[in-house]
Amino acid sequence: MTDETPAIRGGQPVRSDPLGYGGQSIGDRETEAVVEALESDYITRGPRVDEFEESVAEFVGVEHAVATTSGTTALQLAGRAAGFGAGDEVITTPLTFVASAYPACHTGAEPVLADIDPELRTLDPDAVRNAITDDTEGLVPMHYGGHPCDIDALLDVADEHDLTVIWDASHAFGTRVGGRPVGAERDMVVFSFHPVKNITTGEGGMVVTDDDALARRLRSLRSFDMDYEPDGHDDEPWYQVATGLGYNYNVTDLQAALGVVQVDRLAEFKRRRQEITARYDEAFEEMPGLRTPVVREEVDPMLHLYAVEIGEAFGCSREEFVNAMHAENVYVQVHYVPLHYHPFFQEEYGYERGQFPETEAVYERLVSLPLFPGMDDGDVDDVIRAVTRLHRHSR
Ligand SMILES: Cc1ncc(COP(=O)(O)O)c(C=O)c1O
Repeated sequence: MTDETPAIRGGQPVRSDPLGYGGQSIGDRETEAVVEALESDYITRGPRVDEFEESVAEFVGVEHAVATTSGTTALQLAGRAAGFGAGDEVITTPLTFVASAYPACHTGAEPVLADIDPELRTLDPDAVRNAITDDTEGLVPMHYGGHPCDIDALLDVADEHDLTVIWDASHAFGTRVGGRPVGAERDMVVFSFHPVKNITTGEGGMVVTDDDALARRLRSLRSFDMDYEPDGHDDEPWYQVATGLGYNYNVTDLQAALGVVQVDRLAEFKRRRQEITARYDEAFEEMPGLRTPVVREEVDPMLHLYAVEIGEAFGCSREEFVNAMHAENVYVQVHYVPLHYHPFFQEEYGYERGQFPETEAVYERLVSLPLFPGMDDGDVDDVIRAVTRLHRHSR
């Protein structure tokens, strides 16, 4: 057994401590900001949430940012604000996290899946066009891995059919396309601030929009759909009334305090993510059977995932690759089990395997390698060494 024997075949793992595929970077500034919030008057939604929303709106270049408890609840709110309901169809991609379908599922609308463009792994505008019916009201494209979809082509389809677009940009906070940040597209854009994402608030999400009416609706739904100052009750300061069925998706000032610092550190996180992806690109460029993520000319990416595809020429299957990497103590992940494979989407909406060939072919080969700003150069070396060792021994 040589030093290069993969751990799954009895060699020494490349590292003794586990390396996860993602994770937060929290420093003293975040800790101080959260403690300061904790010692202030507000531990529920207060001035720090306003500050966080303003910082995100300014960064993205939009009028309004509405913070919520997660990317998932942000998508639910966006679906409600869009007015989707029973009888409507809302198109999304099968290669995504389940929550991309929630603007449809949680409003009684039907999530309609359309296949992907395998190069970017995002909604194929032609497949979207083919999926449109008289009942189609909305579109939820997802920027897979942090690389934007074909935004202009999808907006053209939306314009042709007067669709409301909710961009699931959970992966893409910090990415720029054509010189501007992802997030200013109509009608609403959703971010997630889960710890593996580009910035974090623990749990958290945001809907951003330039539309005043949508922003008002989002804010109202976030907080019980309550009218806090109804007409005709000026002398009754306690008089607050529910005008519809809302939620309590209010974010705390503790989370917002964290978020404000994380937005401020975005450039640092982006630089590190780009350094790591450049090292991976260089190491894997010539490796047969391993396809690295595509980055288009006009895109300045802040990749959330470094998702590669393991093809036949690599010498082992994706399943063998994942298990062998785990034996090396390098914890890779697969994004995602396609929506139409989930029992919920099969039982509730009649989907079945075999319906989306491009998605399925990509899914069979997909693996996300570790990528997060807290990785040091030694961690990156370990990942490269583990992949290289596996490649040599698989052929
Ligand atoms: C594409 C996508 N959409 C939505 C979500 C939901 O975000 P959250 O975890 O903040 O609810 C995620 C998170 O994993 C995601 O990856």
